[in-house]
Amino acid sequence: MQKPMLQVALDTLDIPSALKATRALAPEVDVLEVGTILCYAEGARAVATLRALYPDHLILADLKAADAGTTVAEIVFSQGASWMTVICCAPYATMTAALAVARKYSGDVQIELYGEWTFAQAEKWLEIGLTQAIYHRGRDAELAGQKWGPADLQKIRKLADMGFAVSVTGGLTPQDLAIFKGIPVKCFIAGRSLYGADDPAQAARAFKAAIAEHW
Ligand code: 5RP
Repeated sequence: MQKPMLQVALDTLDIPSALKATRALAPEVDVLEVGTILCYAEGARAVATLRALYPDHLILADLKAADAGTTVAEIVFSQGASWMTVICCAPYATMTAALAVARKYSGDVQIELYGEWTFAQAEKWLEIGLTQAIYHRGRDAELAGQKWGPADLQKIRKLADMGFAVSVTGGLTPQDLAIFKGIPVKCFIAGRSLYGADDPAQAARAFKAAIAEHW
């Protein structure tokens, strides 16, 4: 089984704060995510800035796009994104359109799994060429007390068995990773517990130690 990668979700409110985090974190992580919050706050300038500073990193634009697939994909891939996200309830036409642009730039599109979705939809996502999914415990679900549990593990495993490369996120700490042991995870994505840590590089090393221990 391949070792999961580590991704930092930069959900900061401006580019300078994101760069303060990446100065410490870029050497430690595989993927730099322009988080949804930073996308709202700074737009594709954040993608362009990170691409200029980190030419060799994978960069995700976490747009959670729901419409205008061609246009929004062109905005972020033309600025250097490697991947972008679409929300799982987006029309298939939006997903297909975003994927066409991604492929033009040798990039990829990931489906963000939030709320209600079905494995019948997941079959359709595979049919249209999407192979990456992000399994998410949303901030609001976390605040409402939702914990990681067997139902999550079962769904993640089933998605992986179907052929998806599945990334996992949502309030993760290094201590959480053990429960995903034995499941092929593409990336563990962490935001607040990395950029918000007193020592972000040390926090990233703790995630990597947990990955090395369990994969
Ligand atoms: C919120 C997101 C976050 O970027 C993702 O959940 C990681 O952030 P955190 O580790 O702080 O929960 O996509 O919609």
